[in-house]
Amino acid sequence: MLLSVNPLVDEDISAFREGQVLCSVLNPTENSQWLDSVRAKGLTLLALDLVPRTTRAQSMDILSSMATVAGYKAVLDAAARLPRFFPMFMSAAGTIKPARVLILGAGVAGLQAIAVARKLGAVVEVFDVRSAVKEEVKSLGGRFIEVEGAKEDVAAGGYAVEQSEEFKKKQQELIQQRAIAADVVISTAQIPGRKAPVLILKETVNAMKPGSVIVDLAASSGGNCELTSNGNNIVVNSVSIIGKTDYPSDMSSDASKMFGSNVINLLKIMVDKEGNLALNLDDDIIKGTIAVHHKEYVGQRVKQLLNIN
Ligand code: NAI
Repeated sequence: MLLSVNPLVDEDISAFREGQVLCSVLNPTENSQWLDSVRAKGLTLLALDLVPRTTRAQSMDILSSMATVAGYKAVLDAAARLPRFFPMFMSAAGTIKPARVLILGAGVAGLQAIAVARKLGAVVEVFDVRSAVKEEVKSLGGRFIEVEGAKEDVAAGGYAVEQSEEFKKKQQELIQQRAIAADVVISTAQIPGRKAPVLILKETVNAMKPGSVIVDLAASSGGNCELTSNGNNIVVNSVSIIGKTDYPSDMSSDASKMFGSNVINLLKIMVDKEGNLALNLDDDIIKGTIAVHHKEYVGQRVKQLLNIN
């Protein structure tokens, strides 16, 4: 088996033989041609980013682990760049108001960002299109801002779906209001297999306070801010827009520990007592994680993302 910690993008598979196994992060929609050549060659591909988001699979979920690191580090990065304190405090020189942090998307990274920003003493406001996260946001001390009319779909497996044009407009307007009041925006909103929704317009950035910081964790899938440059940090109208995509690399020790544990936990359910690979396709985690096997597409999610029936 070849285990790769980097996403397999156009990896040369000429040296591989039928029946051999690759295990890596895949990004199926960005890699569909290559994936089809892997399928045609008869290789088996275990996609770490396709592990189902279920309770039993939690210990095997690298997306959650890496998002946890990214959410944590994004807040610390923003706090380090902000020319203000995060907590409120009384000093002999007067009262310092707490920083206001706006979080867009309360998935794994967003919830972690809320927790860290609150621990640092900021006032936190949060947007998401999934009403299920409302209680979690509140329990972490964040204020949930609801935009009426969000589309939700249980068939999306807990993920968000594309919203109507009317909703997007309403949401952008409300976000603009809240972003103008904020010192920091951490944006994490993503829709699997699609470009990230644009939530922060150029006009919004231009209206924000000088010195404010936007950390766009959706940069690699197009960005939640219209001006984000993937992998770069830019300053527009005195607002820093951070398009950094590799926060887990900055915390390599714990990020690697988490990634390694996830992979070991996954492989544990895929080997028999003798340590040989034994792929039981009746197991929902194994079936969901296998992208291709025996020259067929296997997991429901990979088929859904590639529009294969
Ligand atoms: P993600 O990275 O796909 O998206 C991040 C967040 O952005 C999501 O909460 C999503 O609803 C939100 N979002 C998307 N479009 C938006 C928009 N237009 N405006 C505002 N927010 C928007 O999500 P992630 O972190 O990968 O989690 C996805 C789901 O999987 C969540 O329901 C999470 O609770 C669930 N999950 C379940 C696990 C388990 O049970 N083992 C493990 C990890 C995640």
